[in-house]
Amino acid sequence: MIAANYDARENRPELLSRLAQARICTDRLFDLVRPDALYERPVAERHRLFFYIGHLEAFDWNLFCDRLPGLKAFAPEFDRLFAFGIDPVGDGLPTDAPADWPAVAEIRRYNQRVRDSLDAALEHGLAGAHAEESPELLLNIAIEHRLMHAETLTYLLNRLSRRQKLRPRDIPRTIAPEVTPGLVDIPAGVTTLGRARENRDFGWDNEYDEQTVDVPSFAIDRYPVSNGEYLDFMAAGGYGERSFWSESDWQWRSEQDINHPAFWIRRDNRWHYRGMFDHVPLPLQWPVYVSHAEASAYARWAGKSLPTEAQWQRAAYGTPQGGENAYPWGDAPPRAGIGNFDFHGWDPVPVGAFPETRSAFGVAGLLGNGWEWTSTPFAPFTGFRPYPCYPGYSANFFDGRHYVLKGGSARTAACMLRRSFRNWFQPHYPYVYAGFRGVSEQAG
Ligand SMILES: [Fe+2]
Repeated sequence: MIAANYDARENRPELLSRLAQARICTDRLFDLVRPDALYERPVAERHRLFFYIGHLEAFDWNLFCDRLPGLKAFAPEFDRLFAFGIDPVGDGLPTDAPADWPAVAEIRRYNQRVRDSLDAALEHGLAGAHAEESPELLLNIAIEHRLMHAETLTYLLNRLSRRQKLRPRDIPRTIAPEVTPGLVDIPAGVTTLGRARENRDFGWDNEYDEQTVDVPSFAIDRYPVSNGEYLDFMAAGGYGERSFWSESDWQWRSEQDINHPAFWIRRDNRWHYRGMFDHVPLPLQWPVYVSHAEASAYARWAGKSLPTEAQWQRAAYGTPQGGENAYPWGDAPPRAGIGNFDFHGWDPVPVGAFPETRSAFGVAGLLGNGWEWTSTPFAPFTGFRPYPCYPGYSANFFDGRHYVLKGGSARTAACMLRRSFRNWFQPHYPYVYAGFRGVSEQAG
């Protein structure tokens, strides 16, 4: 009984308010795009931008329509057209043209009607939902689905030209002292992955059940690998050295002619960073954002490896006393000003920022400022059960071709900074706000 995880009836007003806030968040994101640029497809494998305007509402509608009394489909063709938003179907790249789709104004009219209908039904019809799919579960799914798209949409907007976006007036910039890379020893011990069914807060299907893992001692980079460190790999010919790359990674690198991180631009014989709104001379102290393939090649060059999910978890949450914290810095929930997350900034900050949020072992910058690749293929924990209302959320990606990421970026909502949250991407997708740190199995 999935409903056994949820006993939050008193939280319904809060959940409805969070859904309203999440809508504001995604509305603001689309407002940053100049109207004619909404028809662009900034990443070849993804949909054109306007698709996601329709997708967020169609997802909510499809989630609730058969589960709340009083809802009647009014635009079933839109419900289907905008239903699936991760990857366009099939193995090839999508070839659709804007004329194949409804006009943006029509999508916006559909959206308004969806919101009005859902809001009325959610106000009055909550008690009628199916017992195994509690309204609280559905609301959490709608909220986090939307907030995840708020992040992945930003990756797409990051690829638009600066002329295609409206730059907000005040963009915060964080300055931090330069730091020296180094390793932190993590003693052998136990770490917890996932979450217990008895936990009444929301978690996605792939976060269950709780697992306890013995982790032998290892050493891990105190900071994520910076752009400056990555430049050394480039200068050493890392992109041209076959032995640093797995066979499939080398094939990808060669076929796509990948020679530098996707966020870097070469101009006037200098590297620049492609920020969300500005292109700036490459900030050497910011974490490098690269694909899993590039991260793995760097790690091999450095004589290290990427951490496993369990190693990352132990470095982040373990304590020398043997217990585990809820967050790297302790048990207090995330709040503004202690990390680069929850939509406060757009771009990375130096890896040495927020030293007060180090883990108990002294590992820095674990939450926010960029996801971190692990070497662990995305797979279910023992006890995994998909949610009937969204069976493909995780299960569609248990294919050995996706890797777990932990941490979070500047555009990750605070609710998804929980210890059990797991992200995953293909190893050759270079547009994620994701970097890495290295691990040496030889502690000391
Ligand atoms: Fe989606």
